Amino acid sequence: MLLELPRHTEIFGSVKIHELQRVIKLDSGGFENPRACDITWDDIKSILKRLAIIVPVKNENLHLLDGVLRAIPFDCTIIVVSNSDRVPQDIYNMEKEVITSIHNLSQQEFISIHQKDPEVGFAFHDVGYDSLLEKDKTVRDGKSEGMIIGMLIAKSLGKDFIGFVDADNYVPGSVREYVLDYAAGFCMSKTPYTMVRLHWRYKPKVVEDRLYFKKWGRVSEATNRYLNLLISTCTGFETGVVLTGNAGEHALTTNLADIMEYSTGYSVEPYHFVYLFDTFGLKAEEILYPDAFNAGIEIFQIETLNPHLHEEKGQVHINSMLLSSLSTVYHSKLCNDHVMSELLDNLVDILRSWETPPQNVIMPPIGGIDADSFTKMLESHAETFTWLKHEGVMEGVIEEGYLTGKSVQSV
Ligand code: GDP
Ligand code: CO
Repeated sequence: MLLELPRHTEIFGSVKIHELQRVIKLDSGGFENPRACDITWDDIKSILKRLAIIVPVKNENLHLLDGVLRAIPFDCTIIVVSNSDRVPQDIYNMEKEVITSIHNLSQQEFISIHQKDPEVGFAFHDVGYDSLLEKDKTVRDGKSEGMIIGMLIAKSLGKDFIGFVDADNYVPGSVREYVLDYAAGFCMSKTPYTMVRLHWRYKPKVVEDRLYFKKWGRVSEATNRYLNLLISTCTGFETGVVLTGNAGEHALTTNLADIMEYSTGYSVEPYHFVYLFDTFGLKAEEILYPDAFNAGIEIFQIETLNPHLHEEKGQVHINSMLLSSLSTVYHSKLCNDHVMSELLDNLVDILRSWETPPQNVIMPPIGGIDADSFTKMLESHAETFTWLKHEGVMEGVIEEGYLTGKSVQSV
């Protein structure tokens, strides 16, 4: 892959945020290139084997899920965490059929689990992590809650990198690119504490019967503006470095996943920045994680070559995303009166004037959890847990053609 070199890196305490890097080409010549960052296929492939891709899904069109799963590179393990309806129709069962069919044909490794399986809640309770549980000990609704289930399973598999891909993407080829972009980001990083966040080149919309290649959405524009303002008011120098505040498509090293806190639902992505600023930024009061402090935390922001075409979920969804995203900034330790009043101006349509943005529920780091025993509990008790392993040998696949003689693949 050929990527632009980051032109500038904003250093904010121990957090290094690299400026947006465009994908120049999805492949490359594989030589020393002083003008761009050339990442070889072998290097990317060695990351893919150590990468788990988590697909959170809730009642999405099965055709879209099918395309997404088929596009994720073979070397990655795919973990599907579903919160889809089980009555009146069991959508989770249909999702499992899609997964099984791809696995049977490809032998790719898959794990799937349903977020509301009572055993998932019991397993969290058993390992001492109650902050995402309802009173009846089931896991709350929410994308972030599903992501945490997936991260623990990825950890128990010994994966070093964890990435996320939404299930509602219309273009399988773009999903494949996202995963390769993650791997490229990890190839560039110099610290075990790294996050790669994607920025869409375009997010096409239908406007008056034509496709319009829109660059910015209202939520991401606002989120980025206020995240940047947090840095600017702290350093005294204006910056626009943050362009991926709401990046649903992102990946991180397991080392970093262990020490992050997670905000509930859709506020999880902007809160990554707020948490890192508060905990590792210029005004961090306490050194909580000395290793990460010393090694530094790198954030790569990559502009994809492919546009992002996904299911539109309507104005209510957009408003709730805007509110929960800006709430994370409002409740940051770095948020001063100036940022607060600008934020409230933006939310005036959604909040009644006397209200302040409600604080999102924050879930503590997962580093202390025994992920192995969590996954073992799911494996032995959870009815919805399915693990389709990569057997490595497929017999009688290729009968003719010039590959004859390699009909038994051993990997
Ligand atoms: P947007 O693309 O950021 O507007 O958000 P989406 O509504 O597309 O959600 C992102 C992904 O999270 C999609 O694949 C959803 O199906 C999935 N998702 C949404 N809510 C939940 C949930 O409660 N649990 C799980 N596991 N996934 C969810
Ligand atoms: Co979406």
